Amino acid sequence: MLARSGRTSFLLASARSWTTLLVGTRLVRPLRRLTASVRRPVDQQGRVPVGARDEIGYLAVALNDLFDRRETMEAQRKALVSDLAHELRTPLTNIRGSIEAAQDGMTPTDAQLLEVLFEETSLLQRVVDDLRDLAAADTGNLRLHPEYVYLNDVLTQVADAHRGIAESQHVRLSTDFTVDPQLSVDPVRLRQVVGNLVSNAIRHTGENGVITLRTAATHDQFTIEVADTGTGIAPADLQRIFDRFWRADSSRSRTTGGSGLGLAIARKLIEAHDGRITATSRLGVGSTFTITLPRARQAPT
Ligand SMILES: Nc1ncnc2c1ncn2[C@@H]1O[C@H](COP(=O)(O)OP(=O)(O)O)[C@@H](O)[C@H]1O
Ligand SMILES: [Mg+2]
Repeated sequence: MLARSGRTSFLLASARSWTTLLVGTRLVRPLRRLTASVRRPVDQQGRVPVGARDEIGYLAVALNDLFDRRETMEAQRKALVSDLAHELRTPLTNIRGSIEAAQDGMTPTDAQLLEVLFEETSLLQRVVDDLRDLAAADTGNLRLHPEYVYLNDVLTQVADAHRGIAESQHVRLSTDFTVDPQLSVDPVRLRQVVGNLVSNAIRHTGENGVITLRTAATHDQFTIEVADTGTGIAPADLQRIFDRFWRADSSRSRTTGGSGLGLAIARKLIEAHDGRITATSRLGVGSTFTITLPRARQAPT
């Protein structure tokens, strides 16, 4: 009797250890495969195989998602470096070309040459300044110097500064202010943002077009609108205009634009003010850029 029960418990124990071994192997094997995939050098890292729909399977899916995101970031980084090189190369080539032509006696060393050199170096300066702003925003070091200013004063300054160039292109720049709150904002930065919106609008609006600067209020925010009757932006492009270096016209020349960083910086600057910036557009009809600023920025009365 004793011997039988001893055998039974021996059999039971060995069955249990077989089960443990089996379960252990089923658990450990896929985990080992995952670990091996993750340990591979970055450039050889593919996707990890997704096995059963259990916790390990979910872990594999999460890892693949992480790999995908890293790949996207890497692609963006490479594109940024290549765009940057392109952006700096164009003005540098022009500067060098102009100087060489003058040295060879092909063109005179005169005021016109200085004008070209000045414009090209200004373009370089703008790209570098824009990059500095973006880098500061990325590292959380974008410093605002807020003060209470009347919103319409800032917008009027921007309109006045751009009226000459607008008129020279037969574009009317008008204002339509329905409110004039006193807000705590960085006036230099707000001028920079609205100035970029207005100069973009001028650049993309043909003769007899109109650009309107509007202010309005809702129960919880103030809005600034820059509306134009210009070329408009294709729906697919509208998603990308706030991306760094993105421009509908990829031929980058002095006449067709700035650095392609303006809207990326505008978004960072407005977000630093707890606001938002969005765009709507219809091809051939025009575009409207809207900035919203929270009512919390209003001066206490
Ligand atoms: N008002 C507008 N109308 C049409 N396209 C616009 C307008 N504003 C911006 N865009 C498009 O968005 C792109 C990015 O603008 P931005 O970031 O300011 O760079 P940049 O002005 O240096 O080209 C522009 O190159 C243009 O293609
Ligand atoms: Mg711009």
